[in-house]
Order: sequence, then structure tokens, then C-alpha cells
Amino acid sequence: MSDFTTFATPTQELVENKYRLSLSRINDALAVCFDKENPVTLYAPARYILEGNGKRIRPFLTLLASEAVCGSSENALHVALAVEILHNFTLIHDDIMDQADLRHGRPTVHKRWNTNAAILSGDMMIAYAYELALQAKSNRHGELIHILNDANITICEGQALDMELEEKQDATIADYLDMIAKKTGRLISAALEAGGVAGNATDEQLQSLVLFGEKIGRAFQIQDDYLDIMAEEGKSGKMAGGDIINGKKTYLLLRSLELTSGTERELLHSIIINKGISAQRVSEVRAIYERCGVLEETASLINRNTEEALTAIDELPYAEGRDFLKGFANMLMKRDF
Ligand code: IPE
Ligand code: IPE
Ligand code: MG
Ligand code: MG
Ligand code: MG
Repeated sequence: MSDFTTFATPTQELVENKYRLSLSRINDALAVCFDKENPVTLYAPARYILEGNGKRIRPFLTLLASEAVCGSSENALHVALAVEILHNFTLIHDDIMDQADLRHGRPTVHKRWNTNAAILSGDMMIAYAYELALQAKSNRHGELIHILNDANITICEGQALDMELEEKQDATIADYLDMIAKKTGRLISAALEAGGVAGNATDEQLQSLVLFGEKIGRAFQIQDDYLDIMAEEGKSGKMAGGDIINGKKTYLLLRSLELTSGTERELLHSIIINKGISAQRVSEVRAIYERCGVLEETASLINRNTEEALTAIDELPYAEGRDFLKGFANMLMKRDF
């Protein structure tokens, strides 16, 4: 029998159950957002993107962060919704920028409607997200808004760097890591930080949550890049190989350039020179990745960052909440979509 003074780490099954429960709570709350009918080209796209099967990892992290600092997830729910809506705005605009036709296995918003409707809906969603954050039961609204603003500005910086890297012939892995910290890491760390504030965390606790978020955020984007080309057919809900077709500088591409030589390296180098490659050649690049050892290196980079994330939150006060965060980080590390 377990000692009542220590809390047994939740099994993966408990973490998955909690995730599933939170998922339906978050989805139910999102389903009643944007219920205004008109103008239909403004509100229908917002409802549409939120009806897609997003994983809701950021709002789940917000709820868990609040609990891990002994706050209630009830008070953090509005903040969690704000973060998820902000995230979905970035997806709509990202799909315009990446010329992506598919998201969640369905046409992207700018394909289903048009680019102007996608821009405008996204803009409206930002303001809607802030309104939700202000509805949270908290006396720290100023901090919450500051965190969301900082995340929003940092994502824009990251997306600008992502575009600049497409043009840059001599991009380095350090450039890539800086770019993903901004376009992806900051919203994930902000989701945790805002959850911490909603749970009335101390500055020290917020710092741990942010560090945890930065580490899992890095692992998450590297895995997103991995899945972009390696995911099982149809599982990602996005076009397979979209990153190399668009000439995106990913860890896989930059590192495999260092690991290959001869004709293999020439083909990879042509992606850089031509700022992309035809969809017909994606499978050749996938085969090079499989041969050159970059997939193993990518997996260990994801593992290492996840391990570092786990130690960052060792000091959080509520053992059960802390261990759920750790369990979810492990779950994310193994995701296949
Ligand atoms: C996609 O994020 C954008 C990235 C930062 C990689 P998610 O993979 O969390 O997207 P959804 O919300 O589950 O669709
Ligand atoms: C995601 O980068 C960054 C943001 C949405 C801000 P990606 O362009 O890799 O995201 P996906 O793969 O389209 O979801
Ligand atoms: Mg994209
Ligand atoms: Mg992008
Ligand atoms: Mg991607």
C-alpha cells in the first residue's frame, strides 16, 4: 500500500483520462463562443476553425498550471479559452502565409471562404480572446493581458523570422531554434504562465512554469516539423511534406544537410536554393531522412528537451498537479499527430 504522505505519480492512463475530460469541457465552452450570426463571413470562419479537431493542448496546460500552483481550474477556464482562441487565430493567419490548403483534414479558412475573410476573422478572434481573459475570476487581469500581449507580439516576431529564414541561404540550427521559440514556444509558455497567474502563483512559480513551457514548446515544434513529413498518411490533417514544398528551414532539413554528402546532399541543398521542391519529390527527401540518421537525432532532441522541462517544475507546490504536467509532457513527446 502506498504511503499517504507521498503522492504516487499519475499513470499515463490517469493523465489521458484527465486530458479527455478537459478536452470535452474546453470544447463545450468553445462551442458557445462566436454565436453571433451576422456578418456571416466574420463569425462562421471562427466557428469553423474551432470545430476542427484541434488537440487543445494549450488550454489543457493552462488548467493544469493553475492546479499545480494550488489554484482552481474553474477560475482558469476563461483564460484557457482565451489562449486557445488566440492560438486558432494564429492558425488561420499561418495557413494564409504558408499557402496551406488543409487543416484538421478540411479546407483551410482562406480556401473555404477567401483570404480577406480569413484575415478579418482572425483579427476579431484576438479581441474576443482578450475579452474572455478579462472575464476570468482573478484580481490579476493586468498581468493576464500583459502575458497574452507578449505572446502575441512574440508569435508575430517568430512568424516574421520564419519568412525571413525561407529566404536565407545560410540559415543555422541556432536561427531555427530562435525562430521556433518565438513562433511556438512563447504561446505554450504563456498558456502555462497565464494559468499560473489565474491560480495566483508566485513569481518564482511562474518562472518554473515558463521554463517548462519553453522546453516543451521547443520539443513540440520539432515534433510538428517531424510529423509534417513523417506522419502516417492523413493523420496530421495537413498536406504531407508542406514544409519542404514551401522551402521551410526545419531541424530535419538543416541537420540532414550536415549529415549527407554527394547526390543526397545536392537534393537537400536544392530545396534551399529553389526555396522549395515539387510535391512529387517529397518521398525522395523522406527516404534521405530515413537513411541519414536525422530521425534518431530528432527523437533524442525531443526527448532531451522534454526531460529538461520535467526538472524545471520540480518545486511547484501541488504534487498531483505538477505530476499531471509531467505526465502530459511525456504524452506530447510520444504524439503521432
Ligand atoms: C499547430 O499547433 C501549430 C504549431 C505551433 C505547430 P497544434 O498542433 O497544437 O494545432 P491544433 O490546435 O492541435 O490543431
Ligand atoms: C506554426 O508553425 C506557427 C504558428 C501557427 C504561429 P507551422 O506553420 O509549422 O504550423 P502548422 O504545421 O501549419 O500547424
Ligand atoms: Mg503552417
Ligand atoms: Mg508556418
Ligand atoms: Mg508545421
